[in-house]
Amino acid sequence: MPRSGWDRMAAWRDRRLGERGDLTHRAVIDPSVRRMVGPVRGLRVLDLGCGNGYLARQFARASAAEVVGVDLSAPTLALARARERRRPLGVRYLRRDAADLRGLAAGAFDVVVANMCLMDIADVRGALAEAGRVLRPEGRLVLSLSHPCFDRDDRSAWDVEHVQYEETVWRRVRGYRVEEVREIPWMVAPGRFVTTRSYLRTLTTYFADLARAGFVVRRLDEPMPRAEFLRKSSSGRYVAEIPLHLVIEAVRFDRAGLGSGRFRRGVTAPASRRRARSRARGARRSESRGRTTGTGSSRRAASVGS
Ligand SMILES: C[S@@+](CC[C@H](N)C(=O)[O-])C[C@H]1O[C@@H](n2cnc3c(N)ncnc32)[C@H](O)[C@@H]1O
Repeated sequence: MPRSGWDRMAAWRDRRLGERGDLTHRAVIDPSVRRMVGPVRGLRVLDLGCGNGYLARQFARASAAEVVGVDLSAPTLALARARERRRPLGVRYLRRDAADLRGLAAGAFDVVVANMCLMDIADVRGALAEAGRVLRPEGRLVLSLSHPCFDRDDRSAWDVEHVQYEETVWRRVRGYRVEEVREIPWMVAPGRFVTTRSYLRTLTTYFADLARAGFVVRRLDEPMPRAEFLRKSSSGRYVAEIPLHLVIEAVRFDRAGLGSGRFRRGVTAPASRRRARSRARGARRSESRGRTTGTGSSRRAASVGS
């Protein structure tokens, strides 16, 4: 298999991310991801597209019962394993395509984390389906992305207007609906670039693929940069105004209806109750003839979990 950009810059990324993540991870993305994941004590956690495994290691330090990191890049995993050898925390690393998690049993995890990797994964639909398979019913997927609306690689840019002492920040975006593969250049040394593939997708695509994989989106966050980022990054003030990242918590819907009932109650009411509701809606519609609000949105809400 030819070496990917991730393979070629594995050492550079490992140095940047270390054990705490780089500035953007540490002071923008990860606080939101960690908040959504919540306490992991006693939980089985899968870190999808784990990179050098720094986040997996944080879950292990926070007393997760089991932590597995999965990535496609062998050199990246070699560095993750070297960290594990130097300071053993019991994290297991496996080389897998996120869309083919063979060897990991159905329902084996309580939480799957996909930190800043889904936009780099070619088969996102397959990856979400596999995340759904390896999660136990009502297990949670927490994912972070480059913001699909505001951070579209070279299709988006800051536009800063200076009028005397006043600074106005705009974010220019073009071609939002165009879904395509982009080659992203990373400057790993002055004048030296490595490129990786990124897949531009709309929010609609992500949400449709989540629903298809059996997920119900519970929370969404557009993380606010922390003080460290505002202090150290030249774009800190801009990111405080317009988010460049998105964090989502989605719950694996229990198709078999065997769970605690929290989601069953919200999404799959028993057939008799659904029929009664539908009769009531029909009655309301005929009372309010001429009004166009109401029915469309309830259909959309129901399809989220279907
Ligand atoms: C931007 S890095 C994020 C790594 C890590 N989660 C982090 O936040 O530092 C994207 C990662 O996705 C991995 N990746 C790309 N395609 C993949 C696939 N099909 N299956 C698993 N991992 C993949 C890359 O090797 C890379 O380590």
